[in-house]
Amino acid sequence: MDERFLNSEEQNEDTYFEGGLRPQYLSGYIGQRSVVDNIKIYIEAAKKNDRQLDHLLLAGPPGLGKTTLSQIIANELGVKITVTSGPAIEKKGDLAGLLTSLKEKDILFIDEIHRLNASVEESLYSAMEDYFFDIMLGEGAHAKSMRLPIEPFTLIGATTKTGSLSSPLRDRFQIVFRMDYYSVEELKEIVERSAEILKISTSTDGALEIARRSRGTPRIANRILKRIRDFADIKGDGTIDLDITKYALDQMEIDEDGLDQMDRTILITIIDSFNGGPVGVEAIAASVSEEKRTLEEVYEPYLIKSGFIARTQKGRIATEKALEKFGIKKTGQGKLF
Ligand SMILES: Nc1ncnc2c1ncn2[C@@H]1O[C@H](COP(=O)(O)OP(=O)(O)O)[C@@H](O)[C@H]1O
Ligand SMILES: [Mg+2]
Repeated sequence: MDERFLNSEEQNEDTYFEGGLRPQYLSGYIGQRSVVDNIKIYIEAAKKNDRQLDHLLLAGPPGLGKTTLSQIIANELGVKITVTSGPAIEKKGDLAGLLTSLKEKDILFIDEIHRLNASVEESLYSAMEDYFFDIMLGEGAHAKSMRLPIEPFTLIGATTKTGSLSSPLRDRFQIVFRMDYYSVEELKEIVERSAEILKISTSTDGALEIARRSRGTPRIANRILKRIRDFADIKGDGTIDLDITKYALDQMEIDEDGLDQMDRTILITIIDSFNGGPVGVEAIAASVSEEKRTLEEVYEPYLIKSGFIARTQKGRIATEKALEKFGIKKTGQGKLF
């Protein structure tokens, strides 16, 4: 297993496995109450007025249900959804192709929309606002600009990083939802729902333990559930109870806080190599041999959310909670060692 187990970005094994676990309608979508309550109203309004849904931006860390919610919205509206991603749209022509094949009220879903290149992004503006697309035909002196009409459609953008979205793009979304990490109770419900679909038997305390250690993320909860099933089949009687859950999580080196080896390495690096910080993300990324982007968008948000890292003007610092976790005390001069 090369890829980090707790990395909440979608991995190969998820794609097949998540398919069956994705709720299809809002009724099966657990948690994110305020997002769900609001989207219900927008869906109702769009249906009642027989018009397309307003452009919608979904922001939040990987694995929290952005793609799932987009597909649900399409199902609830009874429209077609075309799925693509920022890095996949390389040229203006690619975008023109996608947009012109949309029918009225259809949804175009662009994942990682903050990673669109500048010229593609710019040509999206008129499409979103006035439903046309300017394209250049020919080259040099003979080039002619042509205006392609587009059906009134809905753009759903998903991003793990609202901060890196340009304001002209952000301002063109009429609805912006920020997805938050799930509570332990909600994750327990998700684990139990998934277990039922996969025909895995779980005890209440087993499901709760998975929920507690899934760092607020449904994708991770489902992934742990699946992995523990293998342990339960081999080590136990097939039922996921508390003992087998704890045993399996220990084997996977996922600790009481839901942190894995990589999280601990990040924290120890800040504490050990940078005296607890402040230290820039670049320096941390270089020390742990990880991409800056992945560190910022995937690992760091949960470490911040759970209070192990704090962001300051000068960089990241390891908090008291992080020091306590590793049994480290501060000395008089603010030095750790
Ligand atoms: N609210 C939810 N209720 C139930 N399952 C969920 C929910 N949100 C996400 N999931 C599960 O987690 C997996 C990952 O969600 P996904 O929509 O792919 O996340 P994102 O697009 O934000 O990275 C899905 O396959 C689905 O099974
Ligand atoms: Mg997604």
